[in-house]
Amino acid sequence: MDAIRIYGGNCLKGQTTIQGSKNASLPILAATLLIDGICEIENCPEISDVFHMQRLLESLGCKVKREETRIRVDTTCLSGCDMPSDSVGVMRSSVMLLGALLARLGKVCMEYPGGCVIGARPIDLHLRSLRKMGVAIEENENGFCAETTGLTGADLTLPFVSVGVTENLILAAVLADGVTTIEPVAREPEIRALCDFLSRAGARIEGSGTKRLVIHGVEKLTPVRFCVPADRIVAGTYLCACMCAGGQVFLKDAPVNDMESVLSQAVAMGAAIGYEPDGIVVTGKDHESTGDIITTGCYPAFPTDMQSPFMVVMALSGRGGRIEEKVFENRFRIVPELQRMGADITVHGNTAYVAGASRLRGAIVQAQELRGGAALVIAALAADGTSIVTNRHFIDRGYEDIVLSLRDLGADIELA
Ligand code: UD1
Repeated sequence: MDAIRIYGGNCLKGQTTIQGSKNASLPILAATLLIDGICEIENCPEISDVFHMQRLLESLGCKVKREETRIRVDTTCLSGCDMPSDSVGVMRSSVMLLGALLARLGKVCMEYPGGCVIGARPIDLHLRSLRKMGVAIEENENGFCAETTGLTGADLTLPFVSVGVTENLILAAVLADGVTTIEPVAREPEIRALCDFLSRAGARIEGSGTKRLVIHGVEKLTPVRFCVPADRIVAGTYLCACMCAGGQVFLKDAPVNDMESVLSQAVAMGAAIGYEPDGIVVTGKDHESTGDIITTGCYPAFPTDMQSPFMVVMALSGRGGRIEEKVFENRFRIVPELQRMGADITVHGNTAYVAGASRLRGAIVQAQELRGGAALVIAALAADGTSIVTNRHFIDRGYEDIVLSLRDLGADIELA
């Protein structure tokens, strides 16, 4: 039962509500470690990555209670600094706990984090920057132990922009002694959400949403309640589903303001977008693209997480185009699977050349990572005949119930 069966050909119609953001929930849950007391985080998606994070917090001594999408984290009994390897191994965001745990306990031992296999994804920059904040780190073959007698503010200049590093350093800096400046920082909306959460708890962060953050360390943070924003990548995925399958769907709560590059690309490739006060109406029209070029990059550029779903749209669209992947070096693992479904795609280095107007056919294909897996489901919606997407667990890492959501929209889809 780790697969999804899709009978292609149905148009999509109706409404789906966009879940809370995975990439915002994870660092915010990690940030609760900085706060002695009980925080309530609302709109946390019910996905396996968040379940792993809950388990990690529990293993560190926190009491974690979930009621549907509300998670209550009580950190008063925070004690552990060793993280269980099974959770750390499967989820890259476990590295996020590093900055927070050093701030609260002064010591962390963990194995190197896992996550989707979409590139080398080292953590060298995390460790290098933390060393500058007064952390001694000893690495071994499988992981490392980090220790500090007290985090100190520092001027941190990063060689490139990283979402995870930015988040980790924010978590390390908010309770550090003195002022920390970090630049260039990633400006993803999820980082803004983390800064909003921490500021509400009493952190002093200047420059949120800009390339440079100035963080004045404070003595202590106080418990708060916070609502996680909707997931722009999930909204983009259902947008692509509608573009590929055709039809019209209302994406309730889609965070329109955070989706500019994705929405303008969708319009360029033939979608019609209607703006409502509480979401967007997507109409998947005939694909009229005229040879598109998509280049991924840091926010506000086109997100790497949307690259695979758009590859499917491109394969179906008029003249196709090319996709340049500038963030991760191994994010074309979906290509052989799409080829199996009849797509004409070739990869040279970090560029995928996608011939358009493909007629996709049903096949048994394998999800190999989260977003690529969701993209295969989308391709199957538009394919002739039956497809089976195996390794559903990758998709479950980020989508609450993709089968139910698409079935509600009229797709012929079931667990297999
Ligand atoms: C986060 C997102 C992920 C998204 C990515 C880019 C979460 C949970 N995940 O991942 O969905 O695709 O941002 O938008 O929010 N790098 C190093 N050394 C380091 C750290 C990163 O070389 O110490 C490299 C990575 O290999 C990659 C690049 O920096 O090539 C950017 O990665 P980063 O922004 O850190 O991505 P994540 O935080 O892992």
